[in-house]
Amino acid sequence: MKKYLFTFGSFILAFIFIAATRALTGTGVIDLGALDNYAAQPLPPYITKDNTPLNNEITDLGATLGRVLFYDKKLSVNNTIACASCHIQALGFSDTALASAGVNGVTGRHSMRIINSRFAQEQRFFWDERAATLEQQSTMPIQDHAEMGFSGQNGDPGLDSLIRKMEKLSYYQELFFAIYGDYTIREARMQRALAQFVRSIQSFDSKYDQGRAQVPNDAILFPNFSMQENLGKNLFLTPAQFDPNGFRTGGGAGCAACHRPPEFDITPNSGHNGMIHALDGSIDLTNQRSPSLRNLMGPNGRFNGPFMHNGALKSLAQVVAHYNELPQELLDSMLYFNTLDQRLRPNGRLQRLQLSPQQQNAIVAFLLSLSGNDVYTDSRWSDPFDENGNLSVINTAMAIEEEKSLDQVHLYPNPTSGEVYLHFPAGEYKLEIRNIKGQLLQHQELREATTLSLSAYPAGLYFVRLRDLSQEKLKLMKVLKY
Ligand code: HEC
Ligand code: HEC
Repeated sequence: MKKYLFTFGSFILAFIFIAATRALTGTGVIDLGALDNYAAQPLPPYITKDNTPLNNEITDLGATLGRVLFYDKKLSVNNTIACASCHIQALGFSDTALASAGVNGVTGRHSMRIINSRFAQEQRFFWDERAATLEQQSTMPIQDHAEMGFSGQNGDPGLDSLIRKMEKLSYYQELFFAIYGDYTIREARMQRALAQFVRSIQSFDSKYDQGRAQVPNDAILFPNFSMQENLGKNLFLTPAQFDPNGFRTGGGAGCAACHRPPEFDITPNSGHNGMIHALDGSIDLTNQRSPSLRNLMGPNGRFNGPFMHNGALKSLAQVVAHYNELPQELLDSMLYFNTLDQRLRPNGRLQRLQLSPQQQNAIVAFLLSLSGNDVYTDSRWSDPFDENGNLSVINTAMAIEEEKSLDQVHLYPNPTSGEVYLHFPAGEYKLEIRNIKGQLLQHQELREATTLSLSAYPAGLYFVRLRDLSQEKLKLMKVLKY
């Protein structure tokens, strides 16, 4: 019997040891007693835009559930695709592929970076803004036939079948229970958690932020910027002046009219920006949203993927060249031209910025200053699953409570599949079994050793508390049910 008597402490140590030797996959452990900070992250004072709805503020527990959902391949019909398959942390939560691979083919548009999604006036999401809120957006990929496959149409299983699959997973039982006090999984609950996690992904450690923190507003020269970066900033911020034919005669490049600092979020109700070809070659005039222009480039100096909804522009030089000289084909059809954002057709003509190569390079240098570092590696936004796709939910805050006083009490086997034998000297005892949230599941008076059954409960961690009524001593034990 001795070999069953290893303590839960050594169990946790084993986890920590395994975690330390593993860099890329997750630790496979979520500790409800030591949650990451998502809710109270520091924000620079100049960041004011926020699309968080009043009824779904970020909580540490909610965002933690969101993180698990975001990285869980079991949310796809064939257990191969998670949100994170197309939104890769090391790539600014985007993808270098033009179109990302889903369970049944590839996406129709290029993946979007999802950093600082929260810090925007715009409530709508996707390139074409078809999702009215981030909450609504968050389960659309799961219900997309090509992406994760639970569409409920043409032979695909529906979301109800995914929910039944999730209900059998102990980590969801424990996380949903910890948040709601019951095990019920609903689409709205998934949406809330995913949106909290996505909104929690923030990045404000760029060179731009270091400069912005030192001055009262964007228009002032940043002391930490090169002359080129300051020139680029000025061009980005300043509106252009145009002659009657759309040729720029003075001012800057007018980028900030649509990509507004300091969040660099898109102005609501923009038109398209002249990128009118879909990935499949057809015409698509519906793309009116850009993710924040922060983090276009990763800390390794590599772009986080090609630019625009169709990934057609491979460098920032090409992006600036696009705005400098909008494609002539926009004049081929009244429809193309009339859906082009008004700000890009001054005096009813195509904008011609006529920027010098030096000015174009300066805008690129400024755009590069908007990239941060930590968001690419911060573990709170990383994969929580271990290399075998497993995850356990524990609560060390409850585990460290006490190990004291009452001697000669033994509980085995531990971990158990259901039955545990509780041994103690004869006397008057009170027994309590609680789940990880501290909810009382069983209580009884005991006089002698007995067998306890955890069979009715889902897999997870349970707390057994034995109080010796005659001596007022107690012992708290943790049992892991698998
Ligand atoms: C198969 C690849 C793929 C998967 C899986 C996927 N996405 Fe996306 N995601 C994309 C693409 C492509 C877009 C842009 C699509 C469009 O606009 O039509 C996008 C857009 C988004 C956006 C909009 C960003 C913005 O600024 O408007 C969010 C947020 C997002 N995804 C979150 C998620 C979440 C959460 C999941 C998992 C539930 C997920 N994605 C799963 C490829 C994927
Ligand atoms: C009229 C509004 C508007 C103006 C002005 C504008 N943009 Fe954009 N920008 C957009 C829209 C809309 C998109 C997304 C379009 C798409 O993908 O089809 C976009 C996309 C981008 C992207 C790609 C983002 C990504 O994640 O792939 C970059 C970079 C960019 N713009 C930079 C600039 C620069 C630099 C300027 C000034 C020279 C500028 N923009 C001016 C509206 C504008």
